[in-house]
Amino acid sequence: MTQDELKQKVALAAIHYIKDVSIVGVGTGSTVKHFIDYLGDIKGDIEGAVSSSEVSTAHLKKVGIPVFDLNAVGTLDIYVDGADEVSPHKHLIKGGGAALTREKIIAAASKKFVCIVDESKCVDVLGKFPLPVEVIPMARSYVARELVKLGGQPVWRENCITDNHNAILDVYNFNIIDPIKLEQIINNITGVVTVGLFAMRPADVVLIGKGTEVITL
Ligand code: 5RP
Repeated sequence: MTQDELKQKVALAAIHYIKDVSIVGVGTGSTVKHFIDYLGDIKGDIEGAVSSSEVSTAHLKKVGIPVFDLNAVGTLDIYVDGADEVSPHKHLIKGGGAALTREKIIAAASKKFVCIVDESKCVDVLGKFPLPVEVIPMARSYVARELVKLGGQPVWRENCITDNHNAILDVYNFNIIDPIKLEQIINNITGVVTVGLFAMRPADVVLIGKGTEVITL
């Protein structure tokens, strides 16, 4: 199976979690793109979705799913999203698609976070994938210097402006042994909007496309 076929397979597996759910939290990325396509097939069973990015919003509308403001709907039963890295503790690195802030907000506001990945995303220790950090544009250089003090090697993702009009620093060289602590430390740097470590609020379920199977973590 190709990587894209694995993404498709886990996206379909996540549809089984959409039972008696009226509004679905929807993430961003190529795996979620498949999920939105499948969600379109069962759109009669749901009222709509809360979206984590302009890209996902456009795709949801294209398949005929109404998109709601999170403020109008309160706590969500379920949030489905991909990830860039997944640890055995269901801690994640996210933000490869620059949607980390809205993704983290929806994850926080959801009762169940179902993460869908192909097996290439599974690691023992997070940190091979450069850690995305969304920053207020005027704080970019200051935050970068603070990240260097923590042992990271930040690189500005040039030509990338987030949906919230901010910048992204991708931080190389972190061997993330204690993800909760690092998440708290980076969150505390002035000018940081969001760090793409999802450890304080990890996934509840991870569906992994591996070979011909879908494994549930
Ligand atoms: C976007 C994300 C995505 O979930 C992550 O980048 C995985 O994407 P893909 O499904 O395309 O591999 O965090 O900000």
